[in-house]
Amino acid sequence: MIPVARPDIGADEIAAVTEVLQSGMLAGGRCVAELEERFAAFIGTKHAIAVSNGTVALMCLFKGLGIGEGDEVITVGHTFNATVSSIMSTGATPVFVDIEPDTYVIDATLIEAAITPRTRAICPVHLFGLPADMAAVVAIADRHGLPVVEDACQAHGAAFWGRRVGSFGHGAFSLYGTKNMTTGEGGLITTDDDRLADWIRLYRNQGMRERYHHEILGYNFRLTDIAAAIGLCQLDKLECNTARRQAIAGRYDAAFADLPIRTPVTPPGRTHVFHQYTIAVQQDRDGIVADLAAAGVSSGIYYPIPVHRQRYVVEHGIHADLPITDQASMDTLSLPMFPGLTDADQTTVIAAVRAAVGHR
Ligand SMILES: Cc1ncc(COP(=O)(O)O)c(C=O)c1O
Repeated sequence: MIPVARPDIGADEIAAVTEVLQSGMLAGGRCVAELEERFAAFIGTKHAIAVSNGTVALMCLFKGLGIGEGDEVITVGHTFNATVSSIMSTGATPVFVDIEPDTYVIDATLIEAAITPRTRAICPVHLFGLPADMAAVVAIADRHGLPVVEDACQAHGAAFWGRRVGSFGHGAFSLYGTKNMTTGEGGLITTDDDRLADWIRLYRNQGMRERYHHEILGYNFRLTDIAAAIGLCQLDKLECNTARRQAIAGRYDAAFADLPIRTPVTPPGRTHVFHQYTIAVQQDRDGIVADLAAAGVSSGIYYPIPVHRQRYVVEHGIHADLPITDQASMDTLSLPMFPGLTDADQTTVIAAVRAAVGHR
């Protein structure tokens, strides 16, 4: 079966992990600091802070911005659960706006109408590796004096007119096993805000600057040196792997040009890093998924139930009408996309998609 995603782990990662294991310094060593320094330079921010996963990265940002009970954060329903659960973890309420039908990212024209006196932040999601319209989002945020939290968990290296996502506002990245850059589990926060960075560094480390002096209520959200050693190798090959993802996307685009499906749309000025290659079909999405599986091709549905329709959100009394989001949950599927996808396997995927879509 050809998988939808597979991490690119090679001899470098194995050697780097072995070195950390042999050093006896599994946590609190040099790798975490080096990963933070190099990732901040890569994104173009003053600070990068490593944490245990992307969910925690988002939680730290919302909490660190002082968001809590009675506050609202504007975001999307067409995203992974953690965008929303991290907002709600602070006691704040997510306010959902719909997405653009062709790009699946936040429809910035809808944001302003969703702003109320309780709004405390705007959280666009750079879904599937495509940046949201950051010119529009930042303009609105500036007009209303609101911080922007970028959910960049799927968008390492993606850029908007040449500037990397995670540097427009405060960024949250995931290093989960299927992401464009992975440490198995892990997360990174990017920001230019010295005060926020300092607070998050305390918060992730039991509230301690000095050992056993707990300045604030904090927890253990640290990344290990074992994970950071993998992260450094992954960062070394991120740009090369991104180029491979873009080449795979280009071949899919050409191969599907005559089919009645919508292939990913990349508006001018945006650099798509293709965490996913997601298509929209006109009918029988689930039948197409079954046909692909029968042909040995895995596919993913991201996401079958939008977050605004999840039980815990509905039970919280939150309601939103998001017709474009609902449509995307019904007619999209994602195809195998990872740097190690061979040309031969991609040929198999293309033939399977053409057959499954063609006979409907
Ligand atoms: C859009 C989005 N937000 C947040 C997360 C949470 O990241 P993690 O799984 O590392 O907690 C993910 C990753 O799964 C994601 O895709």
